[in-house]
Amino acid sequence: MFESLQMAPPDAILGLAEAFRKDTNPNKINLTVGIYKDADGKTPILECVKAAERQLLDAETNKAYLGIDGLPEYGAPVRELLFGADHPINSAQRSFTIQTPGGTGGLRVAADFLKTRLAAARIWVSTPTWANHGNVFRAAGLDVKQYKYIDAAGTGLDFDAMLADLKQVPQRDVVLLHACCHNPTGVDLSAEQWQQVTQVIQERELLPLVDFAYQGFGDGLDADAAGLRTVVDTVPEALICSSFSKNFGLYAERIGALTVVAATPDAAQAALSHVKLCVRCNYSNPPKHGGAIVASVLQDPALRNQWETEVAEMRDRINAMRQLFADTMREHAPDYDASFIVKQRGMFSYSGLTPIQVDELKNQHGVYIVRDGRINIAGMNPTNITPLCQAIATVL
Ligand code: LMR
Repeated sequence: MFESLQMAPPDAILGLAEAFRKDTNPNKINLTVGIYKDADGKTPILECVKAAERQLLDAETNKAYLGIDGLPEYGAPVRELLFGADHPINSAQRSFTIQTPGGTGGLRVAADFLKTRLAAARIWVSTPTWANHGNVFRAAGLDVKQYKYIDAAGTGLDFDAMLADLKQVPQRDVVLLHACCHNPTGVDLSAEQWQQVTQVIQERELLPLVDFAYQGFGDGLDADAAGLRTVVDTVPEALICSSFSKNFGLYAERIGALTVVAATPDAAQAALSHVKLCVRCNYSNPPKHGGAIVASVLQDPALRNQWETEVAEMRDRINAMRQLFADTMREHAPDYDASFIVKQRGMFSYSGLTPIQVDELKNQHGVYIVRDGRINIAGMNPTNITPLCQAIATVL
C-alpha cells in the first residue's frame, strides 16, 4: 500500500532545520527553528534545570505512569506564572491545568476538546501565525479562519483591520491569540489594544485560546502575561496553552500545559473530565521528566530565583541582538530600515525578505531562515552578525 504514496513536503520550520544539519558549509547560519542560542551559538541547559535534575535523580523512587492530567504538583505553580501569585482565579477553583507534551501537545488537546466536546466548528488565527497552528487545528477537524494582523509593510500591527475582522467573527467562535512575542512577526498588542480586543471577545461571546510559548522572552515574566490577565479578568472562560520549551530551555523534554478557565468550579470540573478523555485517546498520559523539573524549580525559592535570572539573561541577549542587527544592517544596507526589529519582541521578527531572497540566502550564503521571511533573532551573535548582514545586503 505504501508504494502509492508520494513524498510529503518537508515541514516549513523543522524541515529547514533538518536541511541545515545536512549542509556541510562551515560558515552556515541557522535562524530557523525557535531555539535560543547563547553568544557562542550553543543552546545551554539552564543551571537551575541541572540542579533540579540532580535532586530528582536522587529522590525519584519509581517510574510509574502519571495521572492523565500529569503531576499533581505541576498545575498550581503553572497557574501562578500565568495569572500572578495572588490572582483570584487561583483560589476560586474555577481553573485547572493539565501537563502536556510541549505547547503543541496542549494545542492539540485543546483542539480535540473544542471539536469533540464543545462541537466547535472554527478557530480564528492571525494572518500570519505560527506555521504549525493550522496543521494542528485542521488535524483535529476544526476549520481554520484568519483575521488580519500584520500591516502592509509587514513590520507593524494593523490594529484597525484586526479589530474590524474580530468584530465579524460569528458569536461563540474560538479565537486564537498570542500572549506575547508573536510568532512569526514579533509584533505584539499594547495594553490598550488588549483591552479593546477583550471587549470584542466579551461582546461577541467568543472563546479565547491564548498561545503562550514565550513567557519571559519579551519584557519580563509578569509583563508578558499582562494581556492574558486582561482577558481572564474580563471574560469568564478561556483556554491557555503554555510551554516551557523556551523559557526553561526544555525543548527536548516536551513540557507544556493546557490551562482551562471556566465560569464556575463545577464547570471547571466537568471540563477537566472531558479534557482527560481527549488525552487518554491521544497519548494516554504525559511524560514525567520535564514536568518534574519545572515543578521543582518553581517551588524551590532559590532555584526559582536562579531561573528568573537565567530567563532575564536570555531575554536581554535577544534584545541586545535586535539592536546589533539593526545597527549592522544600517552599515551594510543603508536603505534597509531595520529599526522595526528593535521594537519587536521575542525570538522572531519578520525580515520582509521574499521567498526568492530567502532561497538565495540559503543556496548562496548558507543562511537559513523560514521561507515567509521569519528570522530567529536568538540565533544571532557577535561573531555571525557581520557575515549575516553582508549576506542579507547582497540579496536585498
Ligand atoms: C518555532 O516556531 O520555531 C518553534 O515553535 C518550534 C516549532 O515547533 O516550530
